[in-house]
Amino acid sequence: MKKIITLLLMVCMCISMAACGNQQEADNTASASDNTANEENQSETTEPEVTEAPESSTEQAEVQEPSAEAETADTTEGGSSTLVVYFSNTGNTRAIAESISNGLGADVYEIIAQEPYTEADLDYGDNNSRSTVEMNDPSARPAISGSIENMDQYDTVYIGYPIWWGEAPRILDTFVESYDFTDKTVVPFCTSASSGMGSSASTLEELAGSGNWLDGQRFSGSESAESVMEWVNGL
Ligand SMILES: Cc1cc2nc3c(=O)[nH]c(=O)nc-3n(C[C@H](O)[C@H](O)[C@H](O)COP(=O)(O)O)c2cc1C
Repeated sequence: MKKIITLLLMVCMCISMAACGNQQEADNTASASDNTANEENQSETTEPEVTEAPESSTEQAEVQEPSAEAETADTTEGGSSTLVVYFSNTGNTRAIAESISNGLGADVYEIIAQEPYTEADLDYGDNNSRSTVEMNDPSARPAISGSIENMDQYDTVYIGYPIWWGEAPRILDTFVESYDFTDKTVVPFCTSASSGMGSSASTLEELAGSGNWLDGQRFSGSESAESVMEWVNGL
C-alpha cells in the first residue's frame, strides 16, 4: 500500500513539474513577443525619420523649380510688369540697372542718344562741351534713338541716370516727356561722383506730369548688387 501511495505522489510531482515548465515556456514566449513588439515599435518610430528626409528634400526641389522657371519666363519672354530704364556713358548707372533687373527679373531699356556722346562731349571742365552747353540750356532735348513700344505692359518703371551738374542729363527730360506714366509707379535712381540726387528726380517728375513717383536713391559707382537689392526690397 505504501508503495502505491509513493508511486501516486511521484506521478503527481511529475505532472506538476511538467505544468510549471510549460508555464515558463509560455512566459518566455510572451516576453519575446513583447520584445518583438518593442523592436517593431522602435523601427516604426525610426522609419519615418529615415523616410522623411528624402521626402522633405524632394519637397524643397519641387518648390524651387517652378520659381526658377517663372523667372526664366519673365526675362526671356519680356513679360515682366517691371521695366528698368537707364542712361549711362561710363557704365556706373548701367551696373546699378543690371543689379535691379537681375534681382527682379525685370525688362531693361537703355536710353541711347541718337548722336552718341563722345569723351569730349562729356568734358565738364570745358564750358563749350556738348554736355555743358546742354545743361546750361533748360530747353535742350537731345534726341533718343528708338522707343519703348509696349510701355502699357509696365506698372513699375525704374529710371536711372548719372548726375550732371547736380541734375539729370537733358536726355532724361526727353525721355520722361515722351511717355505717359499714369497709373505707373516710377522709381528714380542715380549715380554720381559725390553729389546727392538733389532736385534731379523732382525736376523729372514735374516734366513727366504723370505717375506715382517714389523717393529716389543715389548710388556710388561701386555699389554691390546686394545693397542695391536691399534698397529695392525695402521700397
Ligand atoms: C558732364 C558731367 C557732369 C557731372 N556732374 C557731376 C556732379 O555735378 N556731381 C557729381 O557728383 N558727379 C558728377 N559727374 C560724375 C558722374 O555723375 C558719375 O561719374 C556717374 O557715375 C557717371 O555715370 P555713368 O557711368 O553711368 O555714365 C558728372 C559727370 C559728367 C560727365
